[in-house]
Amino acid sequence: MKLLVIHGVNLNLTGRREPGVYGTKTLDEINVELSEFCARAGHTAEFFQSNFEGEICTVIQNAEGVYDGIVLNAGAFTHYSYAIRDAIAAVSVPVAEVHLSNVHAREEFRRKSVLTEVCRGEVLGFGINSYKLALESFWL
Ligand code: DQA
Repeated sequence: MKLLVIHGVNLNLTGRREPGVYGTKTLDEINVELSEFCARAGHTAEFFQSNFEGEICTVIQNAEGVYDGIVLNAGAFTHYSYAIRDAIAAVSVPVAEVHLSNVHAREEFRRKSVLTEVCRGEVLGFGINSYKLALESFWL
């Protein structure tokens, strides 16, 4: 399978920002680990990060017919981006929503995701393992 991992706004700072919440691994280190995780199972993963909502929409649109699944951590866009929600709904590629942190154990505004309804499923609260569980959901 060919899978796409999309990291949204501020996730480029992972490893440096709020390490007690998001961990100490950098995004590059996370991507290498996820890439190896997929390769060991015979699958390939590609990676994209953006702080721009529209860019994420374009990448989701362009994933149609190219990827077998998308793992998406939209960061704070999760909580209010109807544009990303509509982009997910517009394509037939299944999308798995992920979060490093347990958003339900944090501030009230993080408890609402406008994306979950149009996603295949959601994994959250397990750090980098949230991504691994979401990735393997496509081949298990
Ligand atoms: C996050 C949770 C969001 O609420 C937050 O805005 C992020 C990261 C997570 O991975 O836990 O940037 O998506």
